Amino acid sequence: MKAIQENSPPTVKTDLFGGHFRSFRKDPPGFLTRLSKLGDVSAFRIGKIPAFFINHPDLIRDLLVTNHSKFIKGRALQRAKGLLGEGLLTSEKEFHLRQRRMIQPAFHRSRINEYAKSMIEFGEKMAGEWRAGEVRDVDREMMRLTLWIVGKTLFSANVEDDADEVGKAMTTIVSMFNFILLPFSEVLEKLPIPPITKLKNARKTLDEVIYKIINERRASGEDKGDLLSMLLMAQDEETGGAMTDRQVRDECLTLFLAGHETTANALTWTFYLLSQNAETERKFHAELAEVLGDKPLTPDDYPRLKYTEAVLAESMRLFPPAWGIGRLALEEHEFNGFRIPERSLVLVSPFVMHHDARFWENAGEFIPERWEKVSVKEAGNRFIYFPFSKGVRSCIGESFAWMEGVLLLAAIGRKWKLSLVPGQKIGMQAMVTLRPKYGMKMKIEER
Ligand code: HEM
Repeated sequence: MKAIQENSPPTVKTDLFGGHFRSFRKDPPGFLTRLSKLGDVSAFRIGKIPAFFINHPDLIRDLLVTNHSKFIKGRALQRAKGLLGEGLLTSEKEFHLRQRRMIQPAFHRSRINEYAKSMIEFGEKMAGEWRAGEVRDVDREMMRLTLWIVGKTLFSANVEDDADEVGKAMTTIVSMFNFILLPFSEVLEKLPIPPITKLKNARKTLDEVIYKIINERRASGEDKGDLLSMLLMAQDEETGGAMTDRQVRDECLTLFLAGHETTANALTWTFYLLSQNAETERKFHAELAEVLGDKPLTPDDYPRLKYTEAVLAESMRLFPPAWGIGRLALEEHEFNGFRIPERSLVLVSPFVMHHDARFWENAGEFIPERWEKVSVKEAGNRFIYFPFSKGVRSCIGESFAWMEGVLLLAAIGRKWKLSLVPGQKIGMQAMVTLRPKYGMKMKIEER
């Protein structure tokens, strides 16, 4: 083992009042990219908290896989416990592993093939709503679409139907989640101001609705083929125990929230990139014509849509929806000989690594053909590509998301061509996910 260096990792100039909070908040990917130029390990401060940015494949593997047990989730996700309880995103250690084991079967190939039918149904429904010549906010449309799909695959709920009570409660909870992840939300939450009271009431209603559905399902014993049925049937292989109502509630909410915004952003950026790259768009349309012809789209088409998958992979390289992954050190650790004290924040960024010229040729360019030379799996094993993170805390919905992304691109792309409206500004807003800062207005055109 290398000797621990007593000097601190390199850093950039602090903000006017000390620390780096303002620079970081203003443009997190830009700030982290600047830090990455200083070395594979760099330091910064968020208020009084020491933070470290790690940007080398070996060190990323060390954090996410080899020494993962020395770290827990970062502060934003700790705060989310108020809403999500002990769901997969927020729980830790043995409890997390137990839940992960129990939930994994819900994401097996055989099961997600069933979900594929809903993905196609809703993709076609949205494509059918659009009219040639109209302008749509594609970022909002994709959010609507993935929300429908997660509502259906999770609860068999019709989120698109305003009268559907689960759907309504779920949409309110989305805004609540974004609020909870804000810095100081724990202080704001105590204030008796109307928006907070509204959110608290929404949480109460949501809980009532979810518990009602859980009770009805338990009583009927019916397997509806959705995720909720899987959660209710899940058993711990060691103890044979099932989940309590509270655990089912926490996992449902977690899957609902983790399962739509990321995919929606991935699709929005993909349509943007296609609109800017005529040759890629032509090849994408040609593949759809060749694989699908005049036949209806079915789940079996998914493995054949290889170029579409490469387009999605390349889009998530340039615009990874989960742009940063944070951890809190439970004990002291060293990266590249630099000492990382207990309780420090450690960050890695798919965004920065996916743009690193040491590992990617023409790193800033959109070239789906690069995925003919290296597979997503190989790039993942090298820790240079990890939009779904890696290790025990990696995304449980990864296969679901790939399938959903490809099928929705196909359902929409076979009918429509999307072009950016003149004057649409493009920028990134790195909140929990990487959103288009100025939205994404696009014109719907006949193919
Ligand atoms: C393009 C789409 C998606 C991306 C880029 C994405 C990315 C990620 C990432 C990076 C993590 C790790 C977060 C961390 O360690 O802090 C994660 C975790 C998770 N994701 Fe996804 N995700 C996507 C879609 C989905 C979908 C469709 C679902 C469910 C239906 C889902 C459910 C989850 C859950 C439950 C976790 C927590 C897993 C655990 O800690 O055991 N995600 N996701």
